[in-house]
Amino acid sequence: MNPHPLITTRYSKPEDKPAFVERLFDAGAKHYDAVVDWGFFRTGAFYRRWAQQRHGLKPGMQLLDAACGTGLMATAAARILGTAETITCLDPSAGMLAVARTKLAARFVQGRAEALPFPDGSFDFLTMGYALRHVVSFEETFGEFHRVLRPGGKVLILEVTKPARNPGAFLFRLYFGRIYPFLTRLFTRSRDAATMMTYFWETMDACVPPEAVLAALQKAGFVQVSRKSMLGLFSEYTAVKP
Ligand SMILES: C[S@@+](CC[C@H](N)C(=O)[O-])C[C@H]1O[C@@H](n2cnc3c(N)ncnc32)[C@H](O)[C@@H]1O
Repeated sequence: MNPHPLITTRYSKPEDKPAFVERLFDAGAKHYDAVVDWGFFRTGAFYRRWAQQRHGLKPGMQLLDAACGTGLMATAAARILGTAETITCLDPSAGMLAVARTKLAARFVQGRAEALPFPDGSFDFLTMGYALRHVVSFEETFGEFHRVLRPGGKVLILEVTKPARNPGAFLFRLYFGRIYPFLTRLFTRSRDAATMMTYFWETMDACVPPEAVLAALQKAGFVQVSRKSMLGLFSEYTAVKP
């Protein structure tokens, strides 16, 4: 299952999505941190760390941050772990990885969540922040998450989820669909950054409901599969490899 139907204004065939997404983040990488910082009212670093802490990330754990981007999840994790040496950061975008490399001394690997270049049972904890919509298949992605985790290992996926009903849905659409891309263009003066944030909205708008994510995690063999919703807006999906 793809996280959303084809965004036909961006690509006409499913196989064209990865190249589009890679170009999108390569081009927007230098603006990403600033744009998500003010766009989420400077709460991002705190929230990422708080979520990781609440869901059981602890010093000594081997962590895989899949879709690490510019390293926002990993830098938050390093504060909990007390080191970046036990963190592996994976992302397909060379541009995003280049920014992340300037921030922490973790292991960086260019690759995709659907085909993880790691042996079975390599990690205790796996995070994916705000990137689930960009994979092409839940089956392949969650199958890989399951494979690379040790028994007892945990996955934590953070996402922004469109509220199901008004007035939340209306305000969400107004902010993420109109205001955020407009302000991004205004402040960065970059068409690439604005496209990145417009596509952010398009994929959230088209995304399958949370129940489909939970069902796919279960189907991949995970147990204790759950979703915690914060403010009806932020989804924290967790699951454990038995
Ligand atoms: C919105 S950014 C999130 C970055 C970071 N995790 C954070 O919390 O800010 C999405 C990231 O997902 C990456 N990505 C896109 N497709 C991917 C895939 N198939 N597997 C892994 N990462 C992917 C992009 O390159 C981009 O860096």
